[in-house]
Amino acid sequence: MTVYDHVSQQHQRLLRLLEELERTPAEAMLVRSALFATLEEELLHHAEAEQDIFYRMLFERMPDSLAIVEAFDAHSTILHALAEVQILPFDNSRWADKFAALHLLVRAHVLEEEGVIFDLARLKISPCEARALGECMKELPLEADDDATLFEHPAASGQAAGLRLLH
Ligand SMILES: [Fe+2]
Ligand SMILES: [Fe+2]
Repeated sequence: MTVYDHVSQQHQRLLRLLEELERTPAEAMLVRSALFATLEEELLHHAEAEQDIFYRMLFERMPDSLAIVEAFDAHSTILHALAEVQILPFDNSRWADKFAALHLLVRAHVLEEEGVIFDLARLKISPCEARALGECMKELPLEADDDATLFEHPAASGQAAGLRLLH
């Protein structure tokens, strides 16, 4: 499985979870909280795996690429949107609006990643490397190592490094 297959597969799962949550009414609080816990875990794991494995190699191959800096920054923006949902009780009247903002950001980032970022990666990463990266991402444990340092682009806002603080 290549890194593109793996990342796309995780995107489809994340988008399905986001859609399911958006369809879940506020009254179904237990369902909402269970789905949201799964989303939190999988979204953070996905962003960490991308930064530590996929984006790290992209940065090494294209240290000056603005698209790569923007991808790191998109993770920071998503992290903040996630934190804004996390602080609200599940039955709060603002929950749906904050959640919809998060959903939009993730959807836009997925499009960007599977478009511009994949195109750039295919220019700089060989098919053999793409398979190795995909396997590495697949093997990354779901439970993050809190002591490890999350790879961050030196030109990015740096806030995505706080991803692990949310665990
Ligand atoms: Fe990403
Ligand atoms: Fe992604």
